[in-house]
Amino acid sequence: MTQQLFSLAGKVALVTGASSGIGRHSANVLANAGAKVIACARRLDKLETLVSKIRSTGGTAEAVQLDITDNASIDSMFEMAHKSVGLVDILVNCAGIAKTGGFLELDDATWDQVFAVNLDGLRKLSQEVTSQLIKAKRPGVIINVASVAGMSAAPGWTVYATSKAAVIHLTKNMATELWRHNIRVNALCPGYFPTEMNQEFFASDEGKEYLKRLPPRRIGNLEELTGPLLLLASDASSYMTGVALPVDGGHAIRLV
Ligand SMILES: NC(=O)c1ccc[n+]([C@@H]2O[C@H](COP(=O)([O-])OP(=O)(O)OC[C@H]3O[C@@H](n4cnc5c(N)ncnc54)[C@H](OP(=O)(O)O)[C@@H]3O)[C@@H](O)[C@H]2O)c1
Repeated sequence: MTQQLFSLAGKVALVTGASSGIGRHSANVLANAGAKVIACARRLDKLETLVSKIRSTGGTAEAVQLDITDNASIDSMFEMAHKSVGLVDILVNCAGIAKTGGFLELDDATWDQVFAVNLDGLRKLSQEVTSQLIKAKRPGVIINVASVAGMSAAPGWTVYATSKAAVIHLTKNMATELWRHNIRVNALCPGYFPTEMNQEFFASDEGKEYLKRLPPRRIGNLEELTGPLLLLASDASSYMTGVALPVDGGHAIRLV
């Protein structure tokens, strides 16, 4: 009974950013829970490795190349996805990039690039998936991978943190409009997890010192995102929408 609550059997789940880190982990988790996974990112070789691994354990997955900043790439990704697995029931918007630097030094190109990936791409995919679900009168789930950086502020993080705050606010606005269509929208807000995005920093002495100042005193393990992700993806959260769920060992509530 409890296991059934978290089952994704019969669902199609599209995961962006599936070539590495949190997206790759999410694709594995969703496939393991029974979903047919469409794994998307620009690096097709990495997606194919992931898909082979999922298939080797009895799961179903397809690799589809996607540059989330390119409308033609988005269109062809949906065309391929629909042909191979059908309509998307669960969308995990995980593709993201991080850029650091002071507010005063911030240039247009950096701002535009971060917002193109972290916010605009997420918005476009969400619009397409929800329009199709509404047309087909089917329920759905959207999980936007934001960050605890979108819930607080820190020097040098302006563009990334602002893009993630926008993701959280977009999540809430989408949730208010889409509940009546039986589509739930929530944001998953990780603290620090070891991925390509931050591995250099956390391997450095500066990174290790930084971690000591955070309440959890350690970086998260990707496995610690499994439960929260499954909660938001499954009927276990059938009365939850518009939530920004931190998974951060208390990082977001720290005073200093
Ligand atoms: N790691 C953390 O501590 C942490 C904390 C909070 C939030 N997050 C968020 O979690 C998400 C995943 O990050 P991660 O830590 O797993 O980092 P990561 O390993 O660097 O993964 C980023 C993913 O985004 C994809 N991506 C980047 N630009 C893209 C584009 N133009 N089109 C399509 N895909 C694109 C990358 O794939 P390709 O390069 O193959 O396209 C990659 O799969 C991000 O939204 C990030 O902001 C991470």
